[in-house]
Amino acid sequence: MRTVFWEDNQTRMIDQRRLPGAFEVVAYRSHKDVAVAIKDMVVRGAPAIGAAAAFGLALAAHESASTSTDDLLADLHSAAATLKSARPTAVNLAWAVDRVIRSVENKNLNADELRQAVLYEAQKIADEDVEINKRMAQHGAALINDGDTVIHHCNTGSLATVDWGTALGVIRMAHEQGKRVHVLVDETRPRLQGARLTAWELEQYKIPYEIISDNMSGYFLRAGKAQKVFFGADRVTANGDVANKIGTYMLALAAHDNNVPAYSVVPTSTIDLSLKDGSQIPIEERDGGEVLDLQFRGERVAPQNARARNPAFDVTPNRLISAIVTENGIVYPPFITNLPEFVLS
Ligand code: MRU
Repeated sequence: MRTVFWEDNQTRMIDQRRLPGAFEVVAYRSHKDVAVAIKDMVVRGAPAIGAAAAFGLALAAHESASTSTDDLLADLHSAAATLKSARPTAVNLAWAVDRVIRSVENKNLNADELRQAVLYEAQKIADEDVEINKRMAQHGAALINDGDTVIHHCNTGSLATVDWGTALGVIRMAHEQGKRVHVLVDETRPRLQGARLTAWELEQYKIPYEIISDNMSGYFLRAGKAQKVFFGADRVTANGDVANKIGTYMLALAAHDNNVPAYSVVPTSTIDLSLKDGSQIPIEERDGGEVLDLQFRGERVAPQNARARNPAFDVTPNRLISAIVTENGIVYPPFITNLPEFVLS
């Protein structure tokens, strides 16, 4: 099943807040509810929220009672702003929304044709995502050797995309090619995308794994017990800086210090050549309650009055990234000169 899809004039998605305890599909009829679902991380992962927002626009087109093209377009622009503001860091969200709007503007469509065209483009984004992920996986699988142990951060699998996945998709492809791969799944505090979602996916694929807490990566890298590090990205800038789930920077630092290659796997829709470097990427700061939710032996860990900080992403500088895997091939440094030809081809 796809992570996010269109059925019966509804945007449907697997509720990732409930996994692995419960597998539940939720359905939305309004773009505002889709925006809330993105913010609350019912759906998460850069390509998945892009596709969800695109289907959110299809809902907005259905919701609008406008009979004139101009009025309907105005409603779509307003819905686009709502959807884009749901989460700031992953550029795929704005990329998908802008692509849908561009596909219907200045096309001489009447209102009904416009509604159909919005849904057509959203569906196309979702279908293309699956195909792009598989192309990335083919390229990236060449980086994995038989017998490798790989440290993986966050969740970058089917659940982070429409289907198949980015970094986890590479690992899955290597496994399907018959290579023996062992995955050290870091928990990914505070939302535990690794321990909950990546571990759940690896069970489905029958790929051997062990969960480690985030602070164990340095130990395994220094001990020579991991040969590769893989993660995705929410935004890559023109110089190859990578914004990804909080903790990626520390993991990449430890990998670099131990001469272990660190690879970021991204569709080109995640590459934002309009930004010079990572300092320009907006970093989402979420409610500190997500950090304080932690329990130990059934009890809250932190004192009742404790406050917490919760940046959801960090930026890993390009010098710590060994290569960026895209659907158009593997990009090696210097990224500032090499990235554009992969994005534009
Ligand atoms: O906060 P999340 O769970 O949406 O963060 C997701 C990540 O950081 C992923 O690593 C990223 O989106 C790339 S994987 C497709």
